[in-house]
Amino acid sequence: MASTSPPQRPSQPHGQRPRILVTRKLPDAVEARITRDYDATLNPADSVFDADRLVRESAGHDGILVCSTEKLPAAIIEKLPPEVKIVATFSVGHDHIDLAAAKARRLAVTNTPDVLTDATADITFLLLLAAARRAYEGERTIREDRWGRWEPTGMLGVHVTGKRLAILGMGRIGRAVAQRARGFEMEIHYNNRSRLAPELEQGAIYHEDPEELLSVADFLSINCPSSKETYHFLNADRIARLPDGAVVVNTARGNIVHDESLIAALTSGKLAAAGLDVFENEPNIHPGYRDLPNCFLLPHIGSATLETRHAMGFRALDNLDAFFAGKESRDRLA
Ligand code: DGY
Repeated sequence: MASTSPPQRPSQPHGQRPRILVTRKLPDAVEARITRDYDATLNPADSVFDADRLVRESAGHDGILVCSTEKLPAAIIEKLPPEVKIVATFSVGHDHIDLAAAKARRLAVTNTPDVLTDATADITFLLLLAAARRAYEGERTIREDRWGRWEPTGMLGVHVTGKRLAILGMGRIGRAVAQRARGFEMEIHYNNRSRLAPELEQGAIYHEDPEELLSVADFLSINCPSSKETYHFLNADRIARLPDGAVVVNTARGNIVHDESLIAALTSGKLAAAGLDVFENEPNIHPGYRDLPNCFLLPHIGSATLETRHAMGFRALDNLDAFFAGKESRDRLA
């Protein structure tokens, strides 16, 4: 936590506070700490920063605080004014920032891990249950006043308790999803870049080959980072490996899924249902999802609780504080 009187930052001329460009409207408590400790340019209207604006408005700032909505590929990083020394992202995901280009330009990059783990795992379970138990169709039936009577064979969903849950990516969020799944007596299988130590695995079954993992997935939860390796991982061939009637949940990044293949599998009945919080090219999602009654859709709200958004903002500020105090940040990516 920052003290009420900010420490003198050695990298700044005496008496000057670091200048920070904040690209999005952040929760009030976070902005209060930013303006207390920094010479901050805020975005109260939350207006969109395209690449040109990001480069232009970065001028005169020592650092920028961005979200996953602002893309920083190599071409943009190279255009950033030389006075910009750090990009602190208000996100755990950092696929919107080219870390190699940042390292080459000696631009520090930090993210906000840990603090959104529980909120994201909670949303994963909300999607899993909602998709399996046809929550969207049920909700709509009531709101559209189409609920005639209780039916012994109506609205039959997929049973969750005791089923096999396959987790693709057993990092912090994947492990928090597994923890919740234990409460549902699910059999937990996972794939990860490397096998976890037994105390982290807690009985979960490791599959070195992600395709082998798919073959046991009554439920598949995607929790791995977006990368060149995971781009469109869930394509038609891999969906074919899932058991018939499986349920897919994604709270990681949309581009891990090949939309047309998933939509085809939900339409044909190969998959029973899906629950999605993230989409390729969001918010301009593939229109095919909107017509699918067996797809439960959320607008990327995995970390959207006030507590979590405060914690993300404070963590991003801890990272800026450490950087400008000349200290090592625990969340330094580049
Ligand atoms: C994250 O932190 O990566 C969330 O998806 C919000 O961008």
